[in-house]
Amino acid sequence: MATVIDGKAFAQQLRNDLKEKVAALKSEHRLTPGLAVVLVGEDPASQVYVRNKARQTVEVGMESFEHRLGADTDEKTLLDLIERLNNDDAVHGILVQLPLPAHIDEPKVINAVSHDKDVDGFHLINVGRLNTDGGGVVPCTPLGSLMMLKSQLGDLSGLHAVVLGRSNIVGKPMAALLLQANCTVTVAHSRTRNLDALCRTADILVAAVGRARMVPGDWIKPGATVIDVGINRIEEDGKMRLVGDVDYPSAEAVAGAITPVPGGVGPMTIACLLHNTVQQARRIAGIGED
Ligand code: GUN
Repeated sequence: MATVIDGKAFAQQLRNDLKEKVAALKSEHRLTPGLAVVLVGEDPASQVYVRNKARQTVEVGMESFEHRLGADTDEKTLLDLIERLNNDDAVHGILVQLPLPAHIDEPKVINAVSHDKDVDGFHLINVGRLNTDGGGVVPCTPLGSLMMLKSQLGDLSGLHAVVLGRSNIVGKPMAALLLQANCTVTVAHSRTRNLDALCRTADILVAAVGRARMVPGDWIKPGATVIDVGINRIEEDGKMRLVGDVDYPSAEAVAGAITPVPGGVGPMTIACLLHNTVQQARRIAGIGED
């Protein structure tokens, strides 16, 4: 039976540490980190995330600014808001919830956020840093996943990591982080051949494809560490359930360690967003990284 990697407990620990750091920034530097979250439209899943982000931001002692815009908001209005937030000294982090409605140019909006206030690590400058010498802000889901991997395995050097999925939000930055950690990295996707055999060679398997229970236990090398990024809502036996990209019951019997869904990667993503906001606030204030 696999060790269950408890993302909920891990995230709680991270938030406790952040609470102390925020208190120290307030008392020693008169600095209260502020996070602005912008939501365009009424996507139900996005609304839940945004509410959780706002609540947890306040819980660690930071300021939360929420901007909810209608689904028919035009691009110019959104860009004007971002410009205002870029120039607002109380705001140290700006997150524009994705996906945006189809009539808005997503890359344009992402790159309109000042790279100093980007807490997603999606701005081209931060993407460039991640893929060269590091030092920029790192996307939250891959960062949380890496923290859990390191705490489980210690040194990752030389391990074969297979990343399933090549999104800009998870797959690509995850691969870059694992490479920085000296893994041998394979990025697999919907056109990859012999996916099952490839997955069986993975010491670390990160599943980020958004397909419910796509990875069965017999794709997993015995003892491998499995990070399940998927959050899929499915209806089963007349009930709505949240399931990952990995078939948990069969995977748990083979893997050495595995993240559950829910309670694995999800809570870590928000905790890392708060971490990134504190880092950006420190940088903007010239305090340096801790
Ligand atoms: N939508 C789903 N995941 C994310 C994320 O990490 N950041 C943003 N901005 N939008 C998302």
